[in-house]
Amino acid sequence: MSPSEDRAWKIARVTWTVLTGFFVESFIFAASVLPAALFWEWHFHWPYPSDGARIFVLALSFVPAYLLFAFALMVLSALITSILGWRSPPDMEMRIGDVEWPLLRWGRYMITQHIVRLFAGVFYRSTPVWSFYLKLNGARLGRGVFVNSLSMSDHNLLEFGDHVVIGSDVHLSGHTVEAGVVKTAAVRLGNDVTVGTGSVIGIGVEIGDNTQVGALSVVPKHRRLEANATYVGVPVRRIDAPEAEEAALGPP
Ligand SMILES: CC(C)(COP(=O)(O)OP(=O)(O)OC[C@H]1O[C@@H](n2cnc3c(N)ncnc32)[C@H](O)[C@@H]1OP(=O)(O)O)[C@@H](O)C(=O)NCCC(=O)NCCS
Repeated sequence: MSPSEDRAWKIARVTWTVLTGFFVESFIFAASVLPAALFWEWHFHWPYPSDGARIFVLALSFVPAYLLFAFALMVLSALITSILGWRSPPDMEMRIGDVEWPLLRWGRYMITQHIVRLFAGVFYRSTPVWSFYLKLNGARLGRGVFVNSLSMSDHNLLEFGDHVVIGSDVHLSGHTVEAGVVKTAAVRLGNDVTVGTGSVIGIGVEIGDNTQVGALSVVPKHRRLEANATYVGVPVRRIDAPEAEEAALGPP
């Protein structure tokens, strides 16, 4: 293929991705707003005893209407992207400049997650509703998982055991970008793992049961952390039994 043909195909792929992304998001938004729109349509035709009562009910309806819209946005976004197959591919390296289909499909999945984060995450994060959304959007989560962070993406590449707690502002996702290449890998956390506030968990990380990662720590990509341990720092080091970590790493 000549360079000009290659360029034309790239433009065509990106245009198709933007148009379909825009269309699908518009549909999801419209369907999410529908319950509130139907209520307001009914409300404006209801024979209230006075204009004051009509205005009061209108004012009262805004917060529940927004929460309902946000909930519908989470559910529809997860279901429709699942039907369309917009998910993060595991163990891939995708050059951004090539704009191939896997990268574009991944990009649309990222955009839908970002929109849900923006319009719904602010209200629902750290509640069971947020964990419900993450599961619906592809994450494999155990029971009693609390996620107080909006910086989690590639949900279908995340596997958490029971009673995992993710602190606020933790960055944890199944992708990283290095030298113009998007790289993906699953992140697996065992039962009773806590990730401290503001930490960064790299791709391909595995953390054993009952292990704590301290606040503001960095777990580099593809690291395996032992079970029943406490790690802190940048990069993390084991603080409850440093000798166990040295033994696991072997001689220098
Ligand atoms: C890592 C953590 C679990 C350790 O708690 P702990 O076992 O009670 O340990 P201590 O507080 O006694 O600290 C032990 C040592 O580690 C150091 N340390 C503790 N947390 C640290 C951190 N996040 N980064 C760097 N060093 C840390 C302490 O300064 C202390 O050092 P010293 O022995 O030289 O004095 C805790 O400090 C922490 O960071 N928790 C995060 C909780 C959180 O964010 N939860 C999210 C939901 S709210």
